[in-house]
Amino acid sequence: MSSDYPYVGRFDVNRVLPETGRPRDEVLAELTTMAKEEDAFWETGKCSGTMYCGDHDHYAFLTEAFGLYAHVNALQRDMCPSSTRFEGEIIAMALDLFHAEAVTDGEPVGMLTSGGTGSICHAVLAYREHALQQRGVTRPNMIKPETAHPAFDKACHLFGVELRHASIDPATTMVDLAAVEALIDDQTIAIIGSACNYGYGTVDPIAELGRLAIEKGIGLHVDGCLGGFILPFGQELGYDIPLFDFRVPGVTSISADTHKYGYALKGTSTLLFRNKAIRNSQYFFLTDWSGGKYTSPGMDGSRSAGLLAATWASMVHLGRDGYRGYAKAIFETAERMQQAVRSHPELRILGKPTFLFSFTSDEFDIYHVNDFMRGRGWRFNGQQYPNAIHMAVTRPQTQSGVTQAFETDLADAVAFAQQHAGETPMSGAIYGGVAGGMTDEADEFIKSVMAGMLDTQQAVPGT
Ligand SMILES: Cc1ncc(COP(=O)(O)O)c(C=O)c1O
Repeated sequence: MSSDYPYVGRFDVNRVLPETGRPRDEVLAELTTMAKEEDAFWETGKCSGTMYCGDHDHYAFLTEAFGLYAHVNALQRDMCPSSTRFEGEIIAMALDLFHAEAVTDGEPVGMLTSGGTGSICHAVLAYREHALQQRGVTRPNMIKPETAHPAFDKACHLFGVELRHASIDPATTMVDLAAVEALIDDQTIAIIGSACNYGYGTVDPIAELGRLAIEKGIGLHVDGCLGGFILPFGQELGYDIPLFDFRVPGVTSISADTHKYGYALKGTSTLLFRNKAIRNSQYFFLTDWSGGKYTSPGMDGSRSAGLLAATWASMVHLGRDGYRGYAKAIFETAERMQQAVRSHPELRILGKPTFLFSFTSDEFDIYHVNDFMRGRGWRFNGQQYPNAIHMAVTRPQTQSGVTQAFETDLADAVAFAQQHAGETPMSGAIYGGVAGGMTDEADEFIKSVMAGMLDTQQAVPGT
């Protein structure tokens, strides 16, 4: 898809609400055309991350579950006690996955949010409120490894919490413990570790961070948004993945996205707390409003019960052995792809990755490799400091023929990069996809990219 607006000229652009509605079959035909074309992009298995399951039968099953409850507002629990069942059981299953049974110093609980950013926002809010209530902290700060997700920066920005960035060890890509410790003061509410981080697929030293958190009397949030629903199964399969869950003393909360390796529909994530008191401190309620007493357990107001139903359906349908089976295929594929990268001395894998790996080159700009691979239909995620590209292996890559294509295309890409080493590559570091040309970090340019996602395209002359 080369343009952001490929449908101009093919379909009408709705700049006003149509006076007369269109027949359902016509509307559905238009939607189907776009969906099928867009799905074809990742169905090849050449797209990093984002499509975690990739199985249209599974999606159809989830869509059916969603459809039964899509129109229901999960806020009105008297009308939908099923939502209470779904939400409670999703949280209970996630607590089980992260070994809440090992907790002897708290009462583990959880909540469901709209996604990874939603879980991180709720975690930051909960720590802020809890620290205010319990310790009188009025100038809160949190400490994140430089590699932790920007959702923490966003959450801290939104909630007036100072975020301090701890450096990482470039050799391992794991956070430097001494750097974290040096940043802690009496206003620190929590520190953060990733299991695993988005950039490199590496896991921070959670046990050591837990010890530090206990020593300083502060929280430790483990960001398992990406890895939460796959790393535990990697551990069960014998992969060398350190403990990062509630078995680790000092871990006070974990975010884990059901809408990633939980293979649910987009729009849900779990946030789990070692101790009920932290979760409960972020509740908002208004008891004296003329419209009635208002309360909702998280930041959202109305929510579709369909997403709760579909998430629940995914978890109970797959079960532990379903997740383990998918994890096995993904880890094996990731290993084979990493071997392909290691077979080229010009390439260097960063740190000790898991199902997601990132590589760079000390001989040429790695974006030359990316430029070439794009031509062969690959879509990686781009990184900077140093320039690197990463592949988050998901189920579409486990299809037969994909690793072979990766091996062949990578070999050709390395040869291409060597030939073009002195030139400037086309692509650059952009989260969620390596688009060409976005090397300019000027605020106005970035704002125009965001506006482009929201605004209807301008009329193109002649269309
Ligand atoms: C480690 C990590 N944390 C948080 C997030 C944010 O999740 P979301 O995009 O669902 O808000 C991501 C997204 O990829 C992630 O990889």
